[in-house]
Amino acid sequence: MASPVCFTTLVLSHVLISFVVAIVPTLGTGSTRLDTISSLEMESEALLRTGWWSWHSNDTSKRCTWPGILCDNARSITRIYLYHNYLTGQLPQSLGKLTRLKELNLSGNSFEGSIPLDWGNLKSLKQLDLSNNQILGPIPSTLGNLTNLKMLNLSKNQISGPIPSTLGKLTNLKQLDLSFNQITGAIPPTLGRLTNLKFLYFTSNQISGFIPSELQNMKSLVKLYLNENMLEGPIPYEIGNMKNLVALDLSKNRLNGLIHSSISYLSRLRYLYLDSNFLEGPLLQVVENLNDLRCLNLSNNQLIGPIPSQIGDCSILQELSLSNNQIIGSIPFEVLVCPSHILDISHNFNEGEIPHQFGIMVNISILDLSHNKLRGMIPKSLRPKEKVNLSYNFLEGPIPHYLSGFPPDSFRGNKHLCGKISGFFLCPSTPSNRVIMLKVGLQCNMEPEACYCRDQQLSSSAHFTWCARMVFGPNEATDIAVLFCCNLVQFNCN
Ligand SMILES: *[C@@H]1O[C@H](CO)[C@@H](O)[C@H](O)[C@H]1NC(C)=O
Ligand SMILES: *[C@@H]1O[C@H](CO)[C@@H](O)[C@H](O)[C@H]1NC(C)=O
Ligand SMILES: *[C@@H]1O[C@H](CO)[C@@H](O)[C@H](O)[C@H]1NC(C)=O
Ligand SMILES: *[C@@H]1O[C@H](CO)[C@@H](O)[C@H](O)[C@H]1NC(C)=O
Ligand SMILES: *[C@@H]1O[C@H](CO)[C@@H](O)[C@H](O)[C@H]1NC(C)=O
Ligand SMILES: *[C@@H]1O[C@H](CO)[C@@H](O)[C@H](O)[C@H]1NC(C)=O
Ligand SMILES: *[C@@H]1O[C@H](CO)[C@@H](O)[C@H](O)[C@H]1NC(C)=O
Repeated sequence: MASPVCFTTLVLSHVLISFVVAIVPTLGTGSTRLDTISSLEMESEALLRTGWWSWHSNDTSKRCTWPGILCDNARSITRIYLYHNYLTGQLPQSLGKLTRLKELNLSGNSFEGSIPLDWGNLKSLKQLDLSNNQILGPIPSTLGNLTNLKMLNLSKNQISGPIPSTLGKLTNLKQLDLSFNQITGAIPPTLGRLTNLKFLYFTSNQISGFIPSELQNMKSLVKLYLNENMLEGPIPYEIGNMKNLVALDLSKNRLNGLIHSSISYLSRLRYLYLDSNFLEGPLLQVVENLNDLRCLNLSNNQLIGPIPSQIGDCSILQELSLSNNQIIGSIPFEVLVCPSHILDISHNFNEGEIPHQFGIMVNISILDLSHNKLRGMIPKSLRPKEKVNLSYNFLEGPIPHYLSGFPPDSFRGNKHLCGKISGFFLCPSTPSNRVIMLKVGLQCNMEPEACYCRDQQLSSSAHFTWCARMVFGPNEATDIAVLFCCNLVQFNCN
């Protein structure tokens, strides 16, 4: 059934008039058949008007064979696939007549102008992909009439204005991608009605206001990307009800308040990005129960407290970024045995030594511990592949030779590091081949009883201020690391 709107347009159009004059007499068919033919003829006319096929053919009787077109048995057009076709100009209003159209893919062209209101008549549409063009203007609220729509992709355009609340009528929608536009205004709470939605991408717009708690009703949602917008207020507590969420990206907004423990109900979560907001409160409750977490970025917030040792499940965590917060305490050993590919804890207040246990940070690519208060020696097993940054700490002792390929500013700002690296003093002796035995069982911070060089006790007048752990014995994996305390500068085993 044609809608009243549709019918009015139809009567007024030249198409119908020319059709009545030209076709009806020759075919001489009955009035019910006339309706079908007329709608087919209108489809043909709508196609011609686009001009998209004029290089190929103007013979609309062959339209079902034109490139990118698919018809049903009744010869109605059901699919137009013209992605990456160098098409330019306005999006043709005439396409709104293709009421049997199920899939329209015009992605990757150079269309300009706005989305025609009449496209709200494409009642059969299941997929509309206009991504990657230069489309301007607002999203027409008439798109809310496309209730069969399963996927709507308007990303990578210059669409402005608010998200129409009518989009909440698209209850069959599975994928909604409005990212990389200039959309403003708040997220309409009506979107909470999209209970079949799996992917919601609003990345990089100018969306403002609070995140509506109604979004909790999107029980099927797997990925929620609201990053790079101007969202404010707290992360709604109800977000914990979106049990199917695998990826949540709220980064680069203006969100504030605590990160509720409800986030830990999201037991399927693998990717959690909350970086660059104004979030505060303790780190601890964020990660409890998130046993499938692969990437966690909480950088650039105002989070406090120690790093919880149960952060994610280390066997799968691949990226951990906690930089630029107010994290205190020592870096838990558990975090460093994670085979993280990226570990960034820079610009915090972490203290204590980098743990020296064997096997830490296996397979690490990027390690950034700069601007903390870490003390002690650089551990032997620390061998990042791509990048290391230990600058601006209180580290001491030799920079291991296998790290000497990294730029010197990876180590700067540590007064007592030494090594064959520009800007650093040479180490007086290399403990690994000079120090033979040291008194076992000493505690750092304690006065050492003695330091030995090849069984020879060192002068007791040496200042014992330098603390480090070394691994002894032929098998690094099993032999115990012992502690020694000596002053490196006065330490000479010749
Ligand atoms: C179709 O019509 C247009 C406009 O009249 C013309 O420029 C074009 O050459 C025609 N295409 C073919 C394939 O005949
Ligand atoms: C549209 O075409 C592009 C390019 O081939 C493709 O990546 C995209 O998935 C298509 N969109 C839909 C909805 O199928
Ligand atoms: C939307 O289109 C863009 C660009 O063509 C693509 O990168 C993105 O994956 C699409 N979104 C969805 C949900 O398929
Ligand atoms: C289509 O949407 C518009 C705007 O949301 C509305 O005013 C109109 O009544 C709708 N038309 C139909 C046929 O549903
Ligand atoms: C984490 O977030 C910060 C700040 O937004 C960003 O600079 C950094 O690249 C992110 N880290 C990773 C591993 O994605
Ligand atoms: C380190 O990487 C290698 C090769 O990618 C892999 O075989 C090995 O299992 C990894 N080790 C750990 C502890 O993840
Ligand atoms: C290490 O970090 C410091 C301070 O954060 C920075 O200035 C320097 O460029 C970084 N060096 C490398 C090699 O990343």
